[in-house]
Amino acid sequence: MIYSRIVGTGSYLPPRVMDNDEFARRLETSDAWIRERTGIARRHIADESQTSSDLALEASKQALAAAGIGAADIDLIIVATSTPDYIFPSAACLLQAKLGIKGCAAFDVQAVCTGFIYALATADSFIRSGVNQKALVVGSEVFSRILDWNDRGTCVLFGDGAGAVVLESSDTAGILSSHLHADGSYASILNTPGHVSCGAVQGDPTLKMDGGAVFRLAVRVLEESAREALSANGMTVADLDAYIAHQANVRIISHVARKLGLPESKCIVTVDRHANTSAASIPLALDVAVRDGRVKKGSNVLLQGVGGGFTWGSVLLKY
Ligand code: ACO
Repeated sequence: MIYSRIVGTGSYLPPRVMDNDEFARRLETSDAWIRERTGIARRHIADESQTSSDLALEASKQALAAAGIGAADIDLIIVATSTPDYIFPSAACLLQAKLGIKGCAAFDVQAVCTGFIYALATADSFIRSGVNQKALVVGSEVFSRILDWNDRGTCVLFGDGAGAVVLESSDTAGILSSHLHADGSYASILNTPGHVSCGAVQGDPTLKMDGGAVFRLAVRVLEESAREALSANGMTVADLDAYIAHQANVRIISHVARKLGLPESKCIVTVDRHANTSAASIPLALDVAVRDGRVKKGSNVLLQGVGGGFTWGSVLLKY
């Protein structure tokens, strides 16, 4: 039996830090409102010269170092992003070139904030089928580029960053299961509807969201998907050592944990320090938890994403 196993993690946040007071000086909002409704204290913003593949490169270098392998050992690169450098080539191809390697498969996955879960599930399938042995799976975003900086209902919620893992073929698990879902009928509650046509941006290229509808749907599908993943593995909530949900809002994470009967102590929360980094948020939080020892070899970890599409899904793994 072939499994895939995470053997190294890494993350990167651009140096520029923007705290809540910076918004309060410009918009009708406050540090207290943002913290109370979202748990967010600050976010990192990429400078104009930094693209998703640049952020991905820094996170990937860390993940490769943690795995103790060189870039040349990688035979598959998947980048989850909704804010790629270009329309094409993919951020994954640009990352491959920046890593100084060539020849291996490289492509992007677009499932918004569930992107990393989709990418990890895809890499796991390639490895379990014997096609690949060592995959680099990255979530990287510059959401600051698609925000309406005058819309206080959305611009305070997001930030830039990247997280990466090295996934390796193994005869012991590893990734236990992946469950992916989507319902395109919810496209209207969270979207960035602009596109490029004949050399010009058509429509609005900034993020639009019905926050209340997203909140309610996120809580429902995360709970359902957690139960689906646990039951598929004959496990209960008590078997989990760590729960890493998409870092969008601490209240969403707490609601889901309460519904599942999961102690807050097992919930990894990093949204306070980097806000919602979309596809980067899960590997960012995983890297923090691995480095501070809350996730260690043998830990049962549930990763969960939810985001635009609507998309959602879970990966249950033994670290
Ligand atoms: N500062 C001050 N007031 C604000 C702000 C702000 N930044 N934003 C909105 N408000 C106001 C609203 O205008 C509203 O005012 P009104 O009552 O006069 O109309 C009031 O605050 C309450 O607004 P609500 O939307 O009801 O506030 P709520 O408690 O629902 O919190 C929030 C809003 C934080 C957006 C919440 O709905 C939420 O977190 N939703 C989920 C968002 C999310 O996680 N999105 C991403 C998930 S998927 C992905 O990551 C892409």
